[in-house]
Amino acid sequence: MANVISFFNQAGGTGKTTLAMNLGYSLTQQGHRVLLVDMDPQSSLTVFMGLQPHELEGTVAQSILEREPLRILSEIHQMDLVPSNLTLSAADVRLATAIAKENRLKKALSPVVRSYDFVLIDCPPTLGVLSIISLVASTHILIPMQTQYKSFVGLDLLLGTINELQQEGVAPDLKIAGVIPNLHDRTAQSKEILEAVTEQFSGIAPVFPAISRAVAFADASMQHLPLGVYDPKHPAVAILTAISQSLESL
Ligand SMILES: Nc1ncnc2c1ncn2[C@@H]1O[C@H](COP(=O)(O)OP(=O)(O)O)[C@@H](O)[C@H]1O
Ligand SMILES: [Mg+2]
Repeated sequence: MANVISFFNQAGGTGKTTLAMNLGYSLTQQGHRVLLVDMDPQSSLTVFMGLQPHELEGTVAQSILEREPLRILSEIHQMDLVPSNLTLSAADVRLATAIAKENRLKKALSPVVRSYDFVLIDCPPTLGVLSIISLVASTHILIPMQTQYKSFVGLDLLLGTINELQQEGVAPDLKIAGVIPNLHDRTAQSKEILEAVTEQFSGIAPVFPAISRAVAFADASMQHLPLGVYDPKHPAVAILTAISQSLESL
């Protein structure tokens, strides 16, 4: 059965989309079948993968809003993709009064989940209905965070949210796969925050090796390529490989 992993953090710009794409690619290099699901109406993942969201007829929105079968685009950088576009932004309003809306993505994924080893869901940077239905569909949550004080302050809120989803029975089996410190740099603050996060998560979930701030990530996404294709010898590629190897034993 596939591991279904939501990349979630209610803060924006922590690397959710970048890491979903790059760890997905890394997992394919280890021989795994990977499906990426773009659950953000801003469609960054769809764009990073080289598609024009507004030109797409079939997106995840049809599955969430109309209960249609998932539209899967095959074999982009060896991964499959369920794309999104702005149509998905109607979800908050359209699903407000829908019954059992939390299960919409889980149900849509169920016919295809067996065809993959990993399903990676890129969540929007808010705890709205789209993130909730992503977490309900997931076996695990992976938290990319920036090693900055502001992000550290947000972690308590995030852990509280996860706890609530588990306790209230909305996502009772959801496990925390770990935290990925991202956009790390050599400043004293980054180092201090990394230590504090490691301490906060000890006994809860692993804190994976930190990924440095590297302009190559942004360059690679502008070229619509995983970093491992854009610059296979970049030092961050080895870190991505190490993290994806850890995900094999979830
Ligand atoms: N390690 C990194 N080093 C440099 N830039 C990064 C890194 N990770 C992400 N970025 C860049 O930061 C921006 C935000 O990343 P993104 O993955 O879109 O975050 P999120 O999905 O959490 O909003 C993007 O422009 C991306 O290219
Ligand atoms: Mg994003």
